Parts: sequence; structure tokens; C-alpha cells
Amino acid sequence: MRDVTESTATDAVVGQLAGCENPRLKQVVASFVRHLHAFVRDVEPTEAEWLAAIKFLTATGHMCDDTRQEFILLSDTLGVSTLVELINNRKSPGATETSVLGPFYVEGAPDLPPGASILKDGSDADLLVHGRVHDAAGAPIAGAVLDVWQTAPNGFYDVQDPNQPAMNLRGKFSTDADGLFDLRTIMPTPYPIPHDGPVGALLTATGRHPWRPAHLHFIVSAPGYRTLTTALYFEDDPYVDSDAVFGVKDALVVRPTPHVLGKSVHYEFGLERAG
Ligand SMILES: [Fe+2]
Repeated sequence: MRDVTESTATDAVVGQLAGCENPRLKQVVASFVRHLHAFVRDVEPTEAEWLAAIKFLTATGHMCDDTRQEFILLSDTLGVSTLVELINNRKSPGATETSVLGPFYVEGAPDLPPGASILKDGSDADLLVHGRVHDAAGAPIAGAVLDVWQTAPNGFYDVQDPNQPAMNLRGKFSTDADGLFDLRTIMPTPYPIPHDGPVGALLTATGRHPWRPAHLHFIVSAPGYRTLTTALYFEDDPYVDSDAVFGVKDALVVRPTPHVLGKSVHYEFGLERAG
């Protein structure tokens, strides 16, 4: 085509997709082009601004390596990761809300007996976490596995911190015949997402902070049920209503109660049938 104008540019690009033999790819790229063009028409960037956008994405790529994924941080802080998670985890009543997996999950956490502490550094547990796993109708699920992980008091997960023993603050617990579980740990702490790169600069430039509220991560699984990836948050946390990655749901916010150990949290996880 020739003489592309402001009004024909979008159709010109979409038209060139006629030969795409993958219908899903064709749909995705066409939609992306239409939305990107609509964004450009809305914003009307100067050429310098458009170059700045390209340089930002270039810097985002350069920040990535085997352990740092700046594009995931960008997706997280723009709320896209949560939106994708919500779309892919529309749930039935009785099932627990999902929350973001985050980048610090590690497979192979040790299987621990009921009531065990997930602290591996010898310090004392002061938080009891107990509850039940049930199906969507409320019936207990025996033998469900809860894979739990969290931050240390310095705000780091073990994999970020060479001073923590391997698998510190990680463990797997199974429910008993009544679907009950309990474990011992410490209160997790709020932590900032890595903010020394282009995503952190964007947060700062737009008046945002990089903090996530304290949370306990869980992956709850049982044969025949859809695996639940979620997290529990705390009512009195300073960042519970301004999570930098938008992972908090009201149904996942708990209020610890006093306990002989220090504090106690009770939660009931609902799983829905697979398929
Ligand atoms: Fe986390």
C-alpha cells in the first residue's frame, strides 16, 4: 500500500496479517496493533517521547538475567500480571481466591510434620498458622498438601539472601483426616520489589512506592482438585491497601489473634474440583 495516512495506518498493518496461518497469533497481533495505534492516537507522543519509550523497554531488557526478570516486574507493577491471573482463575463459589505466585517460589521444600516450624536458622517461632482445607461444599479434604514460603525479618527470601540457610521459611504440610493443618513460623515482613532498575525509576517518576505488604505464600494441592496458588495478607499492614503489584484481595486478609506462642492465624482454604 501507498500513501498511508493517520486514518488508514492501522488497517494497513492489520491487512498485512492476511497471510498469517496461525489464527490465534493473527488475532493477538491484530488486536495488539489496534490497541497500540489507539494508544498513540490518544497520547500523540513527540518523536523524542517515543524514542524515550523505546529506550525504556531496551533498558528493561538489559536489566534481565538468569535471576532478574525486569519485564515480569513491569507486568506486575502495571497490574497486568494480576489481570491475567484473574482471567485465568475465575472460580466457583466456595473456592478460595487466588493471588500472585511471585518470583521467589522454589520447588522441593521439605515435607514437615503437623505443627513443625519452618524456621531453619534456630530462631523461635511466634506465629501459629492453622486451619482446614475443604472442597467447594465445605467437606474436609484429607491429604491436601500446603506448600508455604515467606520472607525473613530482613525482608528477604532465602534465595535472595546468602546468610539464610537453604529452605529457610519454606515447608510442605499435609492435612489430616479432618482436613486440618497447623504450622509454626514468624510474621512475614513487607518488602520492596527490586526497584534499582527501569521499573523502579518508573515507579518513582509516577509517585508510587515499590512495597508489597507482608504475606504468607501458599500453593494448596490435592488429587482431583484444581491447585490453588494464593497468599494471606495482614489487616494492620501499612501497605495492605497499596500493594505495588495489586495482589491483595479482601478475602485473603487475616487479623492475627493473641496466642501463647505470640499470635495465631486461622484460615480455611477451599479447593474446587479439577476439570
Ligand atoms: Fe512474596
